This record gives sequence, C-alpha cells and structure tokens, in this order.
Amino acid sequence: MSDADVLDLAETTTREDTPFGVYIHWPFCLSKCPYCDFNSHVRHVAVDQENYARAFAAEIATTAARIGPRAVKTIFFGGGTPSLMKPATLATVLDAVAKHWTIAPDVEITLEANPTSVEAERFRGFRAAGVNRVSLGVQALDDDSLKALGRLHTAAEAMAAVATARSIFDRYSFDLIYARPGQSAPAWKQELVRAIGEAAEHLSLYQLTIEPDTPFAALENAGKLSVPGDAVARHLFDVTQEVCAAAGLPAYEVSNHARPGAECRHNLVYWRYGEYAGIGPGAHGRLDVGGKRIATATEKRPETWLAQVEASGHGLVVDETVTRPEQADEFLLMGLRLTEGIDPKRFEQIAGRPIDPARVADLLGYGFVETMPSGRLRVTRSGFPILDAVVADLAA
Ligand SMILES: C[S@@+](CC[C@H](N)C(=O)[O-])C[C@H]1O[C@@H](n2cnc3c(N)ncnc32)[C@H](O)[C@@H]1O
Ligand code: SF4
Repeated sequence: MSDADVLDLAETTTREDTPFGVYIHWPFCLSKCPYCDFNSHVRHVAVDQENYARAFAAEIATTAARIGPRAVKTIFFGGGTPSLMKPATLATVLDAVAKHWTIAPDVEITLEANPTSVEAERFRGFRAAGVNRVSLGVQALDDDSLKALGRLHTAAEAMAAVATARSIFDRYSFDLIYARPGQSAPAWKQELVRAIGEAAEHLSLYQLTIEPDTPFAALENAGKLSVPGDAVARHLFDVTQEVCAAAGLPAYEVSNHARPGAECRHNLVYWRYGEYAGIGPGAHGRLDVGGKRIATATEKRPETWLAQVEASGHGLVVDETVTRPEQADEFLLMGLRLTEGIDPKRFEQIAGRPIDPARVADLLGYGFVETMPSGRLRVTRSGFPILDAVVADLAA
C-alpha cells in the first residue's frame, strides 16, 4: 500500500465514507484454552442459538436507532468460537445489520473459526450466509505444541481446515502463537516458513502472553512453565519480521502480516481509530453520537447479557463519553501499532494540541520512532518491543 492510499483511507471525512465496522461477539467455546483470557465460556448444555440470534438482532436495532444511518464497511464475528454458530444464526445477525444500516458493496465479513473438521464442514453454509473471509486459530503446526496449548485439534486437522478454507473463501488468514515454552529461534523459523507456504495473503502471529488468572499464569507461578525471556522473545520477534517480509507478507501491525492490500480491514478500523459498534456479550464499541465519542461495553456473562437484552434491548454496562485527552491517548495507543503510523495533524485535531515536540525529539534520538516523508510518525522495529512505553511517553 502506498503512502497516498494510506492517507486516502485515513483521512476520509464524510459519514458515508467513514469506515464503520460492526463487531459481533460469540462467547462460547468447546473448551477453555489454558492461556486464554478472552470472554469465552464453556456450556455443557446446548446453547439456544435462536434466542441469542434474536438478542443480537435486538441489540443491533437499538444501536442503529441511537446512531442513525451508517454504511457498514466491515463485519467481524469474533469470540469465543463463532464457528460454533449455526450458519442460520449468523445469517439472522447479518439480516439485522442489513435491515438497519446500508451494507457497502465491498463489505468485508470475517468469521473467526477453530480448525476442527466439524467446523470446517460448516464453511459452505457460512459463505452462503455472506461470510467472505475466515481467520483460523491454528496456533501451532505440531501436535505436541497443540497439546501443550490445550487445543482440541491436531496439526493435520488444522491444515485440512486451512485447505477447506482455501477452497471456499477468496480470503483467509490463520493465527499462530510463538515464544511458546522451550521454543528456539531455528524451530520457530522452520515452523513459520511452513506456515507461509500454507498462507495466502494474511497471517496473525502472536507472541504468547501469560495472562493473569489463567491456568498458564498459575503454572508459571508454580515454576512449572517457563516462557522465553525478553532477549529470546525479542529475537523471535525479529525473526518473524524478517522471514515474513522476505516472503512478501510484511507486518502492517505489531502481530499482523499481509500482502499489501490484503490487510484485515475490520481491524484497521480499530487501529485507525474509526467508528465501530460492539454487539454481543462483552463487546466493546466506539460510537460517534451527536458530536461526541462514546465508549460502550456490554455485560460479559452470556446469560446475564441475554436477559438484559430481552428486558431492555441492549446489554450495555459501560456507556461513557470519551474526553478529548482520552481520545488522543486511544488514538496513539491504536495507531502506533501500525506500520503506517499516525498522522500528527489528526492527533492535533483530536487532542486540541500538537504532540509534544520535545518528547518526539527524544524518541527520535533513541531511534524508537521515525518521521516518514509523508509527515506521519511511526514506531521503529527497535521501538516495537517497548511500544507501551513509547505510547505512554507521547501521551503524557
Ligand atoms: C479470540 S482468540 C480466538 C479464536 C478461536 N477461538 C481460536 O482459539 O482459534 C484470537 C487469537 O488470539 C490469540 N491468543 C489468545 N490468547 C493468547 C495469548 N495468551 N497469547 C498470545 N495469543 C493469544 C490466538 O492466536 C487466537 O487465535
Ligand atoms: S483461544 Fe479460542 S478456543 Fe481457546 S478459549 Fe480462547 S477463544 Fe476459546
């Protein structure tokens, strides 16, 4: 993507042109992976999908009544495991989006899918319902690692799901987790090269994070699990950047790699600090209402969310105006994850003040940020491992 394209997309201003995305959260999984702290729940009785479909539709109607007309450019079914939805459930949700908003002709509709054979069997149904991109949670390419990660699928099953996705969807991506316990740089490089051989246009490559209050955190505290230290993790990150760039899949965000033009447009809405509705249990949104920026979040527990939506048409538990300084912080936090960086003029519009030139000069001096010929500011390779500190410094 050229700088000019980036600016075109980033600087559009009219309501019809402004990227607007809809995020739908399906909060159920077949089992809970020991590293995961997403809002995902295991239920041992069948989930009544018709009830949930009705509630999603109701929450979409309430949101649309509040914000008014929009052209939906992206829809993302995330989870949890949204590939456990029946295609009919997903179709009901998409019908509700189309009933209340305009769907852009080139809309991107992504579904996160777990790569088991059962779920791959539903791919045709998902495509018939309107999904045009899938993102598969492969995580690792060998069975021992998958077992250690608590995954329910084998590597062969995951590759079969990737092949099915390739035969049904024009666009697919898959996720891998690296910096796993005991993983060496040569082993990761080999795995990554194999993964690139299976990838088409996009890969998400996440460094394993030990999230508080997960079984992995307990194991680590008990000395039973050890992940690569900072220096090794840093080296693995560098290997990731080099191998992917050489294969034509450069990073466009800290953990996301794509052929130019094949970026996930929905996630770009977040990172470019666009507008998005969050629908379903534990979903977050940022809405522009009456000249104000509103942060929304819904009740996380599925059954409580369902009861709340059935009673009042929405599951909101957070519904607050984001102040200009808060918006400026969020804009930096999101935008500096991107290889395209941020437009300092947009920061100034949002914050009502320029970015502190002394702080920029300091970070430039350390080589943690750089100014691009277009005037945009971005974090460098050496700045990415300390991204949070760079953002905190610029935001202060
Ligand atoms: C919302 S999850 C779900 C997708 C799907 N349920 C699955 O597991 O295949 C999205 C991605 O986040 C990544 N992820 C989740 N927890 C992580 C962690 N603790 N560290 C690194 N990556 C993580 C995984 O790669 C996962 O595919
Ligand atoms: S990683 Fe995916 S499948 Fe595992 S618990 Fe989290 S959301 Fe569910």
